[in-house]
Amino acid sequence: MKDIIKTRKKTLAILFGAVILFAFSCLYSTHPRPVETEDRDAGLFRIWAHSDIQPVNESEFFHYETAVLDVAQNLPGLNAAIVAGDIVYAKKDADRYYRWFLETRKNAGIPYWFEIAGNHEARDLGAYLRAIGKPLHYAVSMGNMLIILMSDEKRTPQTEISQATFLWWRDLVMRNQDKIILTVSHAAPAKSGLPASMFPTMRLASSKRFEEVMKRYYVDLWISGHNHIASSISPKFSRPVAFPRTLFVEVASIHLTALSGIESYVLEFQEGSRECRVLTRDHQSRRFVASRSVNHTLRTGFRRGTGEPLILFPSGEKKAYFLTAVKG
Ligand SMILES: [Fe+2]
Repeated sequence: MKDIIKTRKKTLAILFGAVILFAFSCLYSTHPRPVETEDRDAGLFRIWAHSDIQPVNESEFFHYETAVLDVAQNLPGLNAAIVAGDIVYAKKDADRYYRWFLETRKNAGIPYWFEIAGNHEARDLGAYLRAIGKPLHYAVSMGNMLIILMSDEKRTPQTEISQATFLWWRDLVMRNQDKIILTVSHAAPAKSGLPASMFPTMRLASSKRFEEVMKRYYVDLWISGHNHIASSISPKFSRPVAFPRTLFVEVASIHLTALSGIESYVLEFQEGSRECRVLTRDHQSRRFVASRSVNHTLRTGFRRGTGEPLILFPSGEKKAYFLTAVKG
């Protein structure tokens, strides 16, 4: 009986939280206009953005496998993928879960993968680094697009990023204002306007330093994860009044619960165009959700170049994209 009351109390608390999130989002954020999802051009450069996979055990493997199968069968030819953290759930058996992730994602047929560590990876960053084979923080240059990726550095619910990493990000943003700039972090800045960022545990720690830069310099898109609540309850796009040049997109989650579906996002860039389209993908129904997809105007027209990514390290070193090291 006690258990039933406890479960009821927990469910009520979650529902209450969801209602608050929704109400907050309506008050605080200016939601970008929805767009139609038909008439997509086959010549687009498309990035699959997703996060928060974190199967608790093998019985939850089907969440990500459902998404990857949908991509393989219905969204062929995606050019790259961004994984905004929380690939695994626990420290225990992390190596095995990373191996499963790396094997599963091969089926999506996507050539380039850019990942960061979330708060769950931060429980064992050694396992993450061994599996993924990229540094915690790095940037990717592709055509005239610059993607700056920053991992969680501590195992706290907030995304904690050191001052040295912030200064590296700031320098890249300031020096690359002729490019289209994407930033990827596990949690979003406090003033992103995304509903989850009203909760201290759900945001980027010391956000103000990032926000001060964004007031003066272009950051076209900020991709984050961390908040699992479905896009039908908690809006996933925001273009707040304070940062009208930046579209914040919360790409969580793959992990399926009573309050979250198997969802991800496709970013579409068209050669020579300043218009970027971000589409919400519901992998269970295998369709894009027209009412939950938006257009965003970029600082400059997209140029694909060779489409080959170059990895830029915080040390200043540059390398051609390297294949992920999968260790047994
Ligand atoms: Fe998280």
